[in-house]
Amino acid sequence: MKIAVLPGDGIGPEVTAEAVAVLESLALPGLTLFQADVGGIAYKRHGHPLPQETLDMARAADAVLFGAVGDPDCDALDRHLRPEQAILGLRKELGLFANLRPARVFAGLEHLSPLRADIAAGLDLLIVRELTGDVYFGAKGQRVTDTGEREGWDAMSYAAHEVRRIAHVALRAAAAGAHKLTSVDKANVLETSQLWRDVVVEVAADYPDVPLDHMYVDNAAMQLVSHPDRFGVVLTGNLFGDILSDLASAAVGSIGLLPSASLGERTTAHGTFGLYEPIHGSAPDIAGQGKANPMATILSAAMMLRHSFGREAEAARIENAVSAALADGFLGGDLGGSHGTAAIGEAVRARL
Ligand code: NAD
Ligand code: IPM
Ligand code: MN
Repeated sequence: MKIAVLPGDGIGPEVTAEAVAVLESLALPGLTLFQADVGGIAYKRHGHPLPQETLDMARAADAVLFGAVGDPDCDALDRHLRPEQAILGLRKELGLFANLRPARVFAGLEHLSPLRADIAAGLDLLIVRELTGDVYFGAKGQRVTDTGEREGWDAMSYAAHEVRRIAHVALRAAAAGAHKLTSVDKANVLETSQLWRDVVVEVAADYPDVPLDHMYVDNAAMQLVSHPDRFGVVLTGNLFGDILSDLASAAVGSIGLLPSASLGERTTAHGTFGLYEPIHGSAPDIAGQGKANPMATILSAAMMLRHSFGREAEAARIENAVSAALADGFLGGDLGGSHGTAAIGEAVRARL
């Protein structure tokens, strides 16, 4: 069980340390952790946000535990040197096209949601976000038009094979959990989305038992907060998935609670190679204050045990310990409580 730990910037190292402590406290045989710089800290120390040796270490591992990247000091750098390029580069270089972002309101903790408790109670869904295509990875630039005005542009596109493989991931997840699948797009306006929808329909023919519907992204954003119980598995592209997953996290209670797994085709001895990270960023506004909620990262480590190491029992132990810590009132500032990063991590470990 070789794990590359990439803490990154801001609260990344703070939340990653708690997730590592949880993994270590399970005393799993053969667990080996390697650590490397990534993001703004890597740029400052090595001149690049994703140094070759960090990428090599990630490739040599069975799984990657990632904190967060992003540093306001770096926002004016050329785009290819900005911290965010590190996570985009890892996803692309490692072929991690399938991003799983589960969002559910913990039973008994509906009051943590800003939604009405009866509405929040119905929120239990999995966002399957395509992660290596879309407008994120298309050509982009800035130019000066004939009239002398500055113009920015980004090309959005999906090739059929990119939609096909992520559609299979989502349909398999829906079939396994007997859920319905909602594919989210903007096919009323975008050709990229029309292609997306056509391919999803084609692939879904192989899964006759999975109920499938399609929803425009604006309506999906609205339905997610008004009728979250209408969703089981949500399949969507890179940009829409980014936005909808932050929205879903707020409906759960806090972005500090949502983990993710990014998977591709490479397998390990007991599962799939993957990168695991909270969906939140480096939170510069609270970095260095010991205030960040580490639960999203701890839950990401649970996803790692499940998907990369076939350790379902230990994954469930971590998830139950997080639920128990929340139920016992170990809430960070993000949830209206006053517990710090270390206290929350300790509370989770005590409940393993
Ligand atoms: P963010 O997710 O870092 O923070 C948004 C808000 O949520 C902030 O108020 C923050 O304090 C709060 N928050 C986030 N995580 C929290 C936690 N664990 N506990 C308590 N509160 C938490 O988003 P942002 O402010 O838009 O971006 C900050 C930087 O992070 C930017 O540089 C951005 O590019 C980067 N970013 C990186 C990733 C990643 O590494 N995968 C993801 C998102 C944003
Ligand atoms: C996320 C983040 C990243 C994304 C950024 C930091 C590139 O917002 O993981 O959700 O947009 O994918
Ligand atoms: Mn995001």
